[in-house]
Formats: sequence, C-alpha cells, structure tokens
Amino acid sequence: MFNTMTVTKAAGALIGALLFLMLAGWAASSIYHVGSAGHGGEGEEHAQAYSIPVEESEADAGAEEEQIDFAALMAQADVAKGESEFGKCRACHKLDGSDGVGPHLNGVVGRAVASIGGFGYSPAMTDHVADAPDWTPEALQEFLTNPKQVVSGTKMAFAGLKDPQARANLIAYLETQP
Ligand code: HEC
Repeated sequence: MFNTMTVTKAAGALIGALLFLMLAGWAASSIYHVGSAGHGGEGEEHAQAYSIPVEESEADAGAEEEQIDFAALMAQADVAKGESEFGKCRACHKLDGSDGVGPHLNGVVGRAVASIGGFGYSPAMTDHVADAPDWTPEALQEFLTNPKQVVSGTKMAFAGLKDPQARANLIAYLETQP
C-alpha cells in the first residue's frame, strides 16, 4: 500500500515536471519568435556569425587527422606487401644500382632529389629540389599519391598509388633497400 502511494506521488511529480517543462519551452519559443520577428535582420546575422567557427574547426580537424594517419600507417607497414607493391615500379626502376627508364631506387628514402649522376632528369624534377631537397618518407608518400600533380612536368609516367597503406608499405620496403 505504502509503495503504491510512493509510486503514485513520484509519477505525479514527474508528470507535473514534464508539463512545466513543456509549458516553459513553449513560452520561451513564442517569446523568441516574437522577438526575432520584430528584428528580422538581427536574427539572420546571429545565425551566420554562429556557423563560421563551426566550419573552421571542421577544416582543422581534417588536416590534423591526415598527418596522424600517415605516421600510424608507417608504424604498422607490411614490408612483404611493400615488396609486391614495388612490382608496379619495377618496369622503370631497378634496385641493383643501375638506371633504366627511371633512376635506380637504392637508398631512395632520405636520398637527395634528382641526385643520380648520369641520369637525365626532367627540368621539373631538378627544379623540385628547391621545394623539397630530400625524399623523406613524407615527401615520397606525397609524390607517389599523384606524381604529375606534385612534380608538375615530371617524365615519370605513373598515375599514383591511391591507397595510403599501400604507399606506407612500399616506403617501408624501400627503406630496406640500401
Ligand atoms: C613508366 C615508368 C615509371 C614507373 C612505372 C615509375 N616510375 Fe618513378 N620515375 C620514372 C622516371 C622517368 C623518373 C624521373 C622523373 C623525372 O626526371 O621527371 C622517375 C623518378 C622517380 C623518383 C625520383 C628519383 C630521384 O632520384 O629523385 C622516385 C622516388 C620514383 N620515381 C619512385 C617510383 C616508385 C616508388 C614507383 C612505383 C610505385 C615508380 N617510381 C614508378 C619512371 C617511372
């Protein structure tokens, strides 16, 4: 009996509270609408000023995410998968110190850009030295994403590797080829 009374009281209090919130919400929104109808221009300005910082913080988050990602992908890179990925480069690049269509890639990770004497680099590649002097893992992964966009005018006829993990695997493999 006592329990039933307690439950009834509690339910009554809850319903009362909900009713109060609904009324308060309705009252607040009708006051707000009346207010903004009176000053229409002001209402619009407020809405815009509020949306700008939201867009900025989204852009920042995106840029940060990409950087963190590549370091993580390098940390979990699979050298054996990188070796088979190198099959896409083999037609033009050798790893025995001799040059083919492209320069040999021995020790390319950390090597100076366009530094193989006797290989006929394009002017685009020799100019690239000024932008990025060494093939760091970051510089390589950027170049291999889209060679013709990163070094505009390069004679390396290769579309690029779209999968970031595949680029990390390949770079990890190249690191094992002094
Ligand atoms: C169709 C032939 C071809 C393929 C395929 C190719 N490359 Fe190249 N690569 C070249 C040529 C040619 C150059 C010289 C580019 C220039 O001078 O503009 C070059 C240059 C490079 C350089 C700069 C070397 C330096 O000494 O500065 C790197 C790094 C490179 N390639 C990596 C790769 C990797 C990794 C792959 C495979 C994912 C690949 N390439 C696929 C032809 C190719």
